Amino acid sequence: MLDRIKDIQTRFSEELAAVANQPDLEKLKLKYLSRKGEVAMLFAGLKDVAPEDRPKVGQDLNLLKTTINDAVDKLQSKWTAALSGPALDLTLPGRRPFVGRKHPLTQVLDEIKSIFTGMGFSIEDGPEVENDYYNFEALNIPRNHPARDMQDTLYITEDVVLRTHTSPVQVRVMEKKKPPVRIIAPGRVYRRDTPDASHSPFFHQVEGLVVDEGISFGDLKGVIAAFAKKMFGPDTQVRFRPSFFPFTEPSAEYDFVCVFCKGKGCRVCKNTGWVEISGAGMVDPNVFKFVDYDPEKYTGYAFGMGIDRIAMLKYGIHDIRMFFENDIRFLEQF
Ligand code: PHE
Repeated sequence: MLDRIKDIQTRFSEELAAVANQPDLEKLKLKYLSRKGEVAMLFAGLKDVAPEDRPKVGQDLNLLKTTINDAVDKLQSKWTAALSGPALDLTLPGRRPFVGRKHPLTQVLDEIKSIFTGMGFSIEDGPEVENDYYNFEALNIPRNHPARDMQDTLYITEDVVLRTHTSPVQVRVMEKKKPPVRIIAPGRVYRRDTPDASHSPFFHQVEGLVVDEGISFGDLKGVIAAFAKKMFGPDTQVRFRPSFFPFTEPSAEYDFVCVFCKGKGCRVCKNTGWVEISGAGMVDPNVFKFVDYDPEKYTGYAFGMGIDRIAMLKYGIHDIRMFFENDIRFLEQF
């Protein structure tokens, strides 16, 4: 009997040393300490031991039982302590918080606004869903003008459109206040265009309008040139080309010299050396009539400005669609 006790003691020690996880430990407990386990079996055999040997064998058996119990408990509490210890590993490197930023178009718009407010302009706003009257009629674009062609304009109803430019804000501002007027009006505009590298069904413009006594085309050129230099640097050239808009007379389109090739021709400017920004001109007296300004007393200039184009020029982006795809790899670069 004493040999069996010793034998079990040894086997238990070996098996305990091999225990690597909780299920192993449970199995070991069952094997030795359960109601029909090894230790219980030995106790059951006690009745067959000679009465004079019983006290000694009984003592050894009790000792075996406590030894096994203690060993199992010790391992168990070691594991429990490891699990409930501090869950924080202070040696792990920290996780960098994701820093958001403004969309490149918003950044460029902020810069445009600050340049114009610095020149005394205030900022106005108008609706994107616009009446035909403001988008066309009061801008001297009569019913059968090609600019109204269904191909360009997104109609909501016969008389309500998604504004095709920011020029309707000119009319809304002049309806509200008398000269002098010196405003810019940034915002989104819509046209029925098939998207490609240089077209998007919506894009962004800043409208400019200045009306007062004695305003000339020279003032317009001066303001656009000053803007170009502030935005792209002191060497930035500007050119005006004759054009036509129903709401300005005379009208022009204006370009900035390509900031990438300095006019030599490259991919950004499609080898022309120039990047077209938008249209401009002297406010047509017919428009003044719609808002009750006296065309004999006041003159004014107006200009558009493509925000997306300015941003493309500033950052060397070849495809306008990138602004609207929300690809984090693109947006992260600004
Ligand atoms: N509204 C014109 C366009 O979208 C641009 C423009 C604005 C032209 C102001 C003249 C004066 O093309």
